[in-house]
Amino acid sequence: MATAATPETTQGAEAEHQAPEVYRYYELAKKREWQVRDMPWEELPPIPESKGTAEKQARRRDIWRSVITQQLQADSLAVEMAAQLLEMARHHDAKLYYSTMAQDEARHVEAWLRLIAAAGGPTERDPHLDTLAQIFLGLDELEEKVFLMQVFFERMIIPRFRLIARASRGTLLEDLCNRLTIDDGIHHGSGMAYEKVLLRTASKKTKEKMIKGASKMLPIFAEHVLWRPKERDFVSTSMRSRDLARVQREIEEGIKIASSLGLDVSDIEYTIPS
Ligand SMILES: [Fe+2]
Ligand SMILES: [Fe+2]
Repeated sequence: MATAATPETTQGAEAEHQAPEVYRYYELAKKREWQVRDMPWEELPPIPESKGTAEKQARRRDIWRSVITQQLQADSLAVEMAAQLLEMARHHDAKLYYSTMAQDEARHVEAWLRLIAAAGGPTERDPHLDTLAQIFLGLDELEEKVFLMQVFFERMIIPRFRLIARASRGTLLEDLCNRLTIDDGIHHGSGMAYEKVLLRTASKKTKEKMIKGASKMLPIFAEHVLWRPKERDFVSTSMRSRDLARVQREIEEGIKIASSLGLDVSDIEYTIPS
C-alpha cells in the first residue's frame, strides 16, 4: 500500500495549529460575530428618556452623551491597538484571531458613532484614556502588549459595560453594551490564551518589563475610571468613594488574573488617587 499522503492528510498537516488554544477563540469570534445593522435602530430610543424640566432633560442627555463619548474614544483607540497586535503576532493562529478582533473594534466604533449622532453629538475627551493609549501603543514587545491590553484593560472594562447597561434599560445603549460585554469577554479570553503561549518562552527580562508596565498603567487606569467630564462633575463625595472602592476591586481582580498566569505580581506597585 502506498504511504504517500492523500490530499486529506496533506490538508490535515496544513491545518496543524501552532497555537490551537488561540485558534479556538478565532472560531468563537466568528460564531459570535454580529453586524451594526442587527441592532434595533428603529425600535429603541438611543438613550434613556427623562422627565422633568427642559433643563433637567438636557442635563441628563449631556451625561449620556459623555458616557458614549468615552466609549467611542476607547474603541477608536482599540482599533489601533488591535491592528498592532495583528501585525506583531508571531503565530498564524493568533494573526487569524486578531483579524477578527480588529474588525470587532472597528464595528464597535461604527456603532458608537451612530449612537452618539443619535444622542446629540460628542462631548469632551477623557485625557487619561489618551495617556493610557499612548502607553499601550508605545510598548515594543508583543508579550507586554497582550498582557496590558487584553489581560488587564479588556478585563477591567467589562464591569463598566454592565453598569451602563443596567442604568439604560430598553435603549440602544443597553443593547450595544450587552454586545460589547460578550465581545470583550472573548478579547480578554483570547489574550489570556495567547499570553500563556507567549510566556512559555518569555525571558525573565520580558516578564519584569510586564510587571513594570502594569505598575505604570494601573494608576492611570484608575484616573480614567474616576474621571468626570464637566457634564458629570457634580458627582458627590459618596459616589466618589464608591467609585474608588470599585476601581480598587477591579484592579485587585486584574492582579489576581496576572498571578494566575504564573507571573510574580508581588512586584506590582501602584497607588490609586484619593
Ligand atoms: Fe471594543
Ligand atoms: Fe475589545
